[in-house]
Parts: sequence; structure tokens; C-alpha cells
Amino acid sequence: MNQIESEIAKRRTFAIISHPDAGKTTLTEKFLLYGGAINLAGSVKGKATARHAVSDWMEIEKQRGISVTSSALQFEYDGCCINILDTPGHQDFSEDTYRTLMAADSAVMVIDASKGVEAQTKKLFKVCTLRHIPIFTFINKLDRDARDTFDLLDDIEKNLGIDTCPVNWPIGSGKGFKGVYERETGEVITYSDTQKGTKEGTARRIPLSDRESILAELGEAAAEKLEEEIDLLDGASAEFDLEEVRAGMLTPVFFGSALTNFGVEIFLQNFLEMALPPTGRMTDKGLVDPVTGVPENEADDPKNGGFSAFVFKIQANMNKAHRDRIAFMRICSGKYEAGMEVRHVQSGRVQRLSQPQQLMASDRKILEEAYAGDIIGVFDPGLYSIGDTFCMPKEEFRYEGIPTFAPEHFARVRQVDTMKRDQFVKGINQIAQEGAIQIFQEYNTGMEEIICGVVGMLQFDVLKFRLKSEYNVEILLDTLPYEHIRWITKCETPIDRITGTTDMKRIRDLKGNPLLLFVNPWSVQMVLDRNKGLELEEFSRN
Ligand code: G4P
Repeated sequence: MNQIESEIAKRRTFAIISHPDAGKTTLTEKFLLYGGAINLAGSVKGKATARHAVSDWMEIEKQRGISVTSSALQFEYDGCCINILDTPGHQDFSEDTYRTLMAADSAVMVIDASKGVEAQTKKLFKVCTLRHIPIFTFINKLDRDARDTFDLLDDIEKNLGIDTCPVNWPIGSGKGFKGVYERETGEVITYSDTQKGTKEGTARRIPLSDRESILAELGEAAAEKLEEEIDLLDGASAEFDLEEVRAGMLTPVFFGSALTNFGVEIFLQNFLEMALPPTGRMTDKGLVDPVTGVPENEADDPKNGGFSAFVFKIQANMNKAHRDRIAFMRICSGKYEAGMEVRHVQSGRVQRLSQPQQLMASDRKILEEAYAGDIIGVFDPGLYSIGDTFCMPKEEFRYEGIPTFAPEHFARVRQVDTMKRDQFVKGINQIAQEGAIQIFQEYNTGMEEIICGVVGMLQFDVLKFRLKSEYNVEILLDTLPYEHIRWITKCETPIDRITGTTDMKRIRDLKGNPLLLFVNPWSVQMVLDRNKGLELEEFSRN
């Protein structure tokens, strides 16, 4: 294996998907702790204050004490180089959260054991299934009273439509939490409430066959219940099949408690074994090999190969003094070296990437080299868009575009000072081009009426703030009641003739694609039933 091959083989790039408060941040902290990237867990986000250290980028973040942007953290563990993509989940939930999933090779799904599958997890899961990436489930907070384990698995299977295969099994929960049973080894790993911020150290492994020690450790009732559950489980659950896991059809399930540091390292070790390093990604010239960087269709005629990447996020105004934009890209093949020339395929220009940087735990550092699987941020001279491809100067291929995801909040945008029309149009278009918001027009009118759609409500504030501070334009937003949007992918009648419902509205996006807005979720199905041949999609690939 050459150096590039071995570096890429070490990489694991994943995102954590969860509903707010399920424990994503706590779990991330513990991962970093095992990697030795931080000394004491808790320094990723001490809620409002310490979090600024990671992404103190926009004025609005300081005002609100939350992070508007998502970033990637890199750390090493057990010979692997791990990239965790941060997927903002609280009020800062936005389309960026979805786009980040396009840069991940797998996802870790964190579920609160007392709640099961929640709304945001469901949305994020749906986006993961677009790419069939493997999903690893960590059921968290077993140190609190949890729902019945079989119920939790059933919830995942029914709500998300993915088979589950428990790798370990919890013994009790809350005050009665005793640890987990590991199915492969047949051992019970005992729970010990380690202090926050220290690695799990006192957990013991006892073979289930050692009845005396098991009874002494668990007590008779818990031991009996465990045996019953194991019998049931062996009869009922899906067989473990690594191929199915890697195809995103089966999720391995782990149980633990991120806060008290139980089950985290077991999860991490299994995850690193089961998850794949970067694999080929699709372009207009076929799959591009992560090591050679040569697309399938040119396999007989490798011109150059090497580095390639695509942009999945553009972040404006990280440095207010310069009003600059940072484009985040996921490296898909080869090695990036400081100062190297690359082709920006969409503009046709060959250039050096400017100020490439990477986030290592909480520091941003200027980058010397990076490999397939890594995320880098580069200065964007205003040329780049989401989905753009970079490759070696002699190559020319394009990675598959990033879909436009469904916004869930809509507002009509009105200008306070109508004299500033030009600035307003320029500003709102620019912000939409960066992908922070989506803009739509009434189906039958011109640019006069603008409807803005966002995935997370906070983006409305970001829009107002940025138009004021960067373009000196004040706007008013009239919230609209619509919550469900569908792109029309097939329609046998003219759009105007679609038989609608009273709560339906026709609009078009900036590219002219027709869409429908609905207030009620059930109206979507009603309209489909009323219009033969109509096909609707929750995201747009154009
Ligand atoms: P998030 O990023 O998914 O939103 O969740 P986060 O890790 O911030 O965790 C949300 C709350 O749940 C935090 O409590 C955190 O301490 C707690 N938590 C996380 N994992 C566990 C666990 O395994 N067991 C228990 N009992 N609690 C857990 P908080 O009170 O909201 O915040 P904090 O003051 O502790 O930071």
C-alpha cells in the first residue's frame, strides 16, 4: 500500500443524526476524549460560552449564543483518522444540516432511550436513505428509565423502515441499569458510573456462562430477565450481515450512556470495524476511485487522476472585516497538498485553493495536506456554488449535484424602502445562491412577490440580519401557514389545471421549476389522488 492508499484506508467520515437533546454533543465529546483530542470532555460545547470557541463566526451567533454553521472535527483513534461532521440540530437546524449528510460516508443515529425515534431524526434519516449510507444506532441515556428494548427496536423498524440488529443488549435501565450483554462474545459488560470526563475504566466482562458471577453481579431477577430476552431476541431479530449494514439496509444497534461514559468505546471500536473508508463517488463520467481519482469511463486512459472534491456548504461572513465566504468541500479522491493547482470544473478555471483550513477539535489550522474523506474549508472568491467539483487540471468530471431539500417555513418578503430594489434583489439572490434560504415566486407573477422558504426558522433572522448589515436593506417577513412543499416531477395537465385543495398554492423556484405548497400534510395525498399521472417529490435534483 502506498502512502495515499494507507491514509485513505484510515479515514472514517460520518455525521451524527439525532433529535435535539438526545445526546449528540455529549457523545461527540466522548469520542474526542477517546481520541485524546481534548483532555476533558465538556469543552466542545459548554452550551453558550465554550461553543463560541468552535464557531464564533457570525455576529448573530454571538447574540444568540448558538452556532449557525456546521463544521467538521478530526481526531485519531486506534490507527483511524476520524472526521465527524457536525449537523446542527437545535434552532440552528437548516438546509446545511441536510447537505452535510451528502458529505458523510456513514451516519451515527443517536436515540434517547426514553423517547425512541423523534421528528428530526426521522427527517435526517430520510436524507441518509437517499444515498443508502450505512447507519449505526446508539441508544443513549440508559442510566435513565428507558422504554422497553423490544419496543425501541420496533419503533426504529416501523418508523424508519430499516431492519435492526442489536450488537449488545441493555440489562435494566435507570437506577436498575447493570450494563450490556454483548451478543458476539456472550459476555456481560458491567456498568459503572464513571465520572464525567474520564474514560470508562472499571467496567468488567463476565461470561454469561459464569452463572455464579452473573448472579452476584446482576441479581436473580435481572439475570433471569436477561436470559429470557436473549432467547426471544435470538429467535426474532435479523441476522447480522455486514453487507446489509454497508448497504444501509440493516442498522447495528448499541446501547449505552454517553453522559456516564458507558458503551461509548465499545460503540466506537465496532463502528470503526464495520464502517468503510471512503469509496467511489458518482460523477458524470462514472464512479471515481478514491485512491486514483480516475473516473470509471476513463479507466483505460488515465490522464491524471489524483485529487478531487465537491463543495457541500458555503459559509458567508466568517470574518466580518473582509465579508469573505468559505466554501467547505469534501475530498473524494487522492491527496490535497498546499499550493497545488486544481481545476474548478464549473468555471473552467485552474487555480490554487486559497487559505485552505481544517478544524482539528476546537482549533482551525491552515492545512498542509489532506486526503479523501477529509473536509477542508477554502476562501471563496465568489465563484463557487454548492455542488461544484474540483479536480486535477487535466481531468474534467462533475460530482453528482446536491439536491435542494424541502423548506418547512415560508414567509412573504417585503421591502421597507422600495427605493432600494436593486440592492434587495442582489442581496436576496446572493444569499439564496449560497444556499442559506430558498426563494420562490408566485406561479403567475414576476419577481415582485418573493416568497422565502427555510428549513429552520433561524434562517429568517439570518436573512434579515444579513440584508441589513451587508446590503443595507430592511425587510419585513409575513409568515405564511404552509409547511409542506413538493416539486412537481411529472404532470399530465398544465400546472394551472391541477385540481387542488383549498390550502394549496402554486409557486415556482428560481430555475422555473413548478412546486406546490400545502398547509396540511394530508392534502398532498388528496391532490395526488385527484390528479392522475401527477408525481411529486420532497426534494429537487435540478
Ligand atoms: P444534543 O447535542 O443532542 O442536543 O444533546 P446534548 O449532548 O447537549 O445532551 C442533552 C442533555 O442530555 C444534556 O443535559 C446532557 O447532559 C444530557 N445527556 C446526554 N447524554 C446523556 C446520558 O447518557 N444520560 C443522561 N442522564 N443524560 C444525558 P442538559 O441538562 O440539557 O445539559 P448540561 O447542562 O448537562 O450540559
